[in-house]
Amino acid sequence: MSETDIPNTGPRKVCVIGWPVEHSRSPTIHNTWLKRHGIEGEYTKLAVKPEELLDTLRYLPNLGFRGANVTVPHKEAAFEALQPFVDAPAERLQAVNTMYRDPDTGDIRGTNTDGAGFWTHLKHSVPGFNGKTAVVLGAGGAARAIVDVLETEGRMKVRLVNRTVARAASMVADIEAKATVYGWEQLSAALEGADLLVNTTTLGMEGQAPLEIDLAPLPDHAVVYDIVYVPLETPLLAQARARGLAVIDGLGMLLWQAAPGFAKWFGVEVDAEDVAAARALIEADLKNTGLKNKENN
Ligand code: ATR
Repeated sequence: MSETDIPNTGPRKVCVIGWPVEHSRSPTIHNTWLKRHGIEGEYTKLAVKPEELLDTLRYLPNLGFRGANVTVPHKEAAFEALQPFVDAPAERLQAVNTMYRDPDTGDIRGTNTDGAGFWTHLKHSVPGFNGKTAVVLGAGGAARAIVDVLETEGRMKVRLVNRTVARAASMVADIEAKATVYGWEQLSAALEGADLLVNTTTLGMEGQAPLEIDLAPLPDHAVVYDIVYVPLETPLLAQARARGLAVIDGLGMLLWQAAPGFAKWFGVEVDAEDVAAARALIEADLKNTGLKNKENN
């Protein structure tokens, strides 16, 4: 793929590639921002089966796309396909969620903005946050990005708690993290003195069992962050709020992970007001449907 393949006139087209992709919130986010900034552009969904991914990525410029988001189940295959044009976060996570054209070389490059989305939302929600120790619950795809950004950007010590300890241990090895692994039964000990608790498990999502944990070992200044966003206030956040702890819901992570892609494709850094505008639309939509409920473009 080269610069010359990419159209330089007409509306700037970007898409989200997934399978299934119909419930993606990304078009709402990007089209809201395009409108607010008066940019002639279009952000659409592209339903692509796993066996069609490589061809789709190859022909993306010919289809008129300037860039794309990549979501489940394609993030790892996109990472492989874009070698060696991936940046450090994508390399560490072995997964790509954002593709864009390098303005200098014309190469199509891949990055991963999931961790950045998590971290930016944290910094906006708790200005001046300077915690040293984090407890992360869960060891799925979202946890990988979160543990990585907590260690690299946040320079925090991470205690990773998962029901299946072996899965957590192999995740730590995969992303070359320094996190200490704890079993679920060691949760109380892990919470002792922690400045931040993050839930990345599916517990607490609508239709799933609540996450029932005793928050007593957390210090009073601790922040509790749940990346589940349906419901917006999970039982964990309600419990933390009742104890007077600062709480952060999961919707901002989804919104802020979109910001770096928008900047690359359209040249505009969105601000908190842009994010709030897109958030209001998604919140209204969630009240109607409540379909997708954890981070993912
Ligand atoms: P992601 O969407 O982040 O990729 P996932 O891969 O579906 O998420 O992972 C779900 C996480 O929730 C896992 O850490 C899982 O624990 P296991 O690795 O032990 O399976 C966790 N999880 C799901 N149900 C759980 C339960 N009932 N109790 C504790 N943890 C649970």
